[in-house]
Amino acid sequence: MQFLALLALATACVAGPIASRAAIKPYVKPKSTDLRSPCPMLNTLANHGYLPHDGRNITIEDFGKAIFESTNWNADFGIFPATAAFGRLKVSSINLSDLNSTLGGEHPASLTRKDASAGDSNSVDAARVAQLLADSRTSFLTIDSVAKTRNHVDAISKPPPTAAELGVAQGEAALMLLLMRDTYVSLPVNENNVTTLRAPKDRTRVWLLEEKFPTAQGWRPAEEVVQVADLGPITNAIVGSQAAQGARS
Ligand code: HEM
Ligand SMILES: *[C@@H]1O[C@H](CO)[C@@H](O)[C@H](O)[C@H]1NC(C)=O
Ligand SMILES: *[C@@H]1O[C@H](CO)[C@@H](O)[C@H](O)[C@H]1NC(C)=O
Ligand SMILES: *[C@@H]1O[C@H](CO)[C@@H](O)[C@H](O)[C@H]1NC(C)=O
Ligand SMILES: *[C@@H]1O[C@H](CO)[C@@H](O)[C@H](O)[C@H]1NC(C)=O
Repeated sequence: MQFLALLALATACVAGPIASRAAIKPYVKPKSTDLRSPCPMLNTLANHGYLPHDGRNITIEDFGKAIFESTNWNADFGIFPATAAFGRLKVSSINLSDLNSTLGGEHPASLTRKDASAGDSNSVDAARVAQLLADSRTSFLTIDSVAKTRNHVDAISKPPPTAAELGVAQGEAALMLLLMRDTYVSLPVNENNVTTLRAPKDRTRVWLLEEKFPTAQGWRPAEEVVQVADLGPITNAIVGSQAAQGARS
């Protein structure tokens, strides 16, 4: 019985790409008592109920599951950063607000948050998002536009980001492009074709400002499981473009 059901599923897979996965769980606006983090992705996962909506008592495994279920990205995208943060914080579960600290992974020179030295480093800053979008003259963010934004926020950051923080921030910029891109197949990207990656501004704006999966703007989960190794070429391309555009470090 089980076996036959599996066989039927396997046949369907061979016949063609999987047309649709489970529907994205609905977005529910956070209440003032719900806790959120400086990470747009984790807040999105909580807003859609893949993580506890109140933002409390979350384990490393919860992050991995939430990311896989919602986006079809390998659970390691959640497990790796969470393991690092939990290790520094020396805890086995967290509230999302615990990440708004240096040990939690918060750093200056964010794309979408003010530096902690300038106020609230935890909630999205509409002015930073507007600048991120304005840095591209087309209706898409690209490797080059995101590299331009990174150079700008690095230059105005107080204090300046450390080398380690710069590396983390470049990885986060790559995560943004990988999540918001308008292609769903043909991963892995590599050095030869990574420059074609583009993130429509309308969906990126909705994701960042509302911390909601921009399904109304055409976003959907990846068709093939996205692997951590897919991120490296994108990060490298951002690093290269920052240097070509005159990064100081
Ligand atoms: C698919 C998984 C993830 C994606 C796509 C993602 C995406 C992002 C992006 C784009 C940023 C940059 C925001 C900015 O510069 O304003 C960011 C920041 C951050 N992320 Fe995530 N993230 C993911 C998983 C995680 C996990 C699992 C953790 C930890 C448990 C985490 C913790 C953070 C923190 C603390 C920041 C703030 C850094 C700062 O101060 O700017 N993220 N994330
Ligand atoms: C984190 O959540 C727990 C309940 O899970 C609560 O006892 C604790 O006070 C919370 N911490 C903060 C900073 O809100
Ligand atoms: C946190 O969750 C664990 C199980 O996931 C549970 O045993 C524990 O009681 C919870 N703690 C709080 C404060 O809710
Ligand atoms: C985040 O941390 C900064 C200090 O680093 C603080 O000023 C801000 O109030 C915090 N925000 C939240 C929502 O916890
Ligand atoms: C990118 O390169 C990979 C590896 O060579 C290839 O499998 C994939 O089809 C390419 N993607 C695009 C969009 O050209």
